[in-house]
Amino acid sequence: MISRSPEAAKPVVAILTMSDPYRMFRGNRHNFQDIIRTGRDMGFEVYVVTVKDLDLDSPVLRGFIPAGDQTWEQKLFPFPRVIYNRIPAREDEAKPKVTRKIKACLRHPRLELYNPYFFNKRELFDWLNQSRQTRQWAPATKKLKGFSSLCDMIKSHPYLYLKPEEGKAGHGIMRLKHQSSKALPYRLQIQNNRGSTTYKAATLERLWQRVYKETTGEPYLIQQGIELAALHGRPFDLRLLVQKAEHGSFSVTGIGARMAGADSITTHVPRGGSIEDPEKLLTAVFGPERSQDILGRVRNAAVQIAKQIEKGSEYQLGEMSMDLGIDTSGSLWFFEANARPMKFDEPNIRKRSLERIFKYCHYLIGHRS
Ligand SMILES: Nc1ncnc2c1ncn2[C@@H]1O[C@H](COP(=O)(O)OP(=O)(O)O)[C@@H](O)[C@H]1O
Ligand SMILES: [Mg+2]
Repeated sequence: MISRSPEAAKPVVAILTMSDPYRMFRGNRHNFQDIIRTGRDMGFEVYVVTVKDLDLDSPVLRGFIPAGDQTWEQKLFPFPRVIYNRIPAREDEAKPKVTRKIKACLRHPRLELYNPYFFNKRELFDWLNQSRQTRQWAPATKKLKGFSSLCDMIKSHPYLYLKPEEGKAGHGIMRLKHQSSKALPYRLQIQNNRGSTTYKAATLERLWQRVYKETTGEPYLIQQGIELAALHGRPFDLRLLVQKAEHGSFSVTGIGARMAGADSITTHVPRGGSIEDPEKLLTAVFGPERSQDILGRVRNAAVQIAKQIEKGSEYQLGEMSMDLGIDTSGSLWFFEANARPMKFDEPNIRKRSLERIFKYCHYLIGHRS
């Protein structure tokens, strides 16, 4: 039975996701539950809507809300003012039906949809390189176009990362080093589940077959490798959440740190990485004064970068997570930004992040009515 919700007077926000034949809708249900609970506490009516159910000509929509801890109920809800886009996968987003619906939302006069699309890694670096200010934080990055492009790049940067343009969670990442003093000077490391496999060779040609096999079918980037600051031999980097809030401008919601697992070439927690306190790590490596200076520069850079990404994307963005590295000399580097941030495990960042979603919704509604 579908019953009409009585709370029509509140500002209405819908979380957009994909329908699913087996489990009604896709996406992280715990995250959706937290978002809905926070929104309600802040005076909003919030529900989950699927692309399929989002009928832009209807005054009411079929949506989902939690009914108890594990179950969800389907009801009719008023048409939303803001759509919070949480379509979980690139493959879904790329479907023509989904693309058409997102475009229609962006054109709709009474609807605010921000963060319309996932980012592509190569475009992110192109955008950063378009501004003199943000260029300084972008490692040299090129598209992998066959053996000669790799050969050229390793001449100027003997330490390289190879990453899929649309990768996530460390999938498909490789690392290539050229150390001329060694008997087998070329070393390739390929990330697998938790560790990595190393191949050594006398020439780059010999490793190329391996790289080629690993990359076929997917566009890849070659990127200058950064010697990350490390504690007890384990490199770490920073995960930031940058969000717009009540004033409609970007600021840093929180900064976390992730330290690489013993045999991993990335810092992802599912790959053996660990969650750390950024201030503690930076202080241990750089001392208290420089660590404060670095954190200040990180905050400033993150906001500049977020603005530049929004400008480059030519869409309204409301939030992004960002991976930033600090090298052994204390300089900052941008690795990537994600348009659908995952839940932060740090409780204070998590709480603020949820509240800021609705502060921004409030801003959007107030300024666009
Ligand atoms: N150019 C680089 N130099 C050094 N480390 C890097 C570089 N690029 C990526 N990494 C490491 O690998 C991790 C994952 O890279 P990232 O670009 O964020 O890919 P993913 O989308 O898989 O998370 C980063 O957080 C960082 O620890
Ligand atoms: Mg990342």
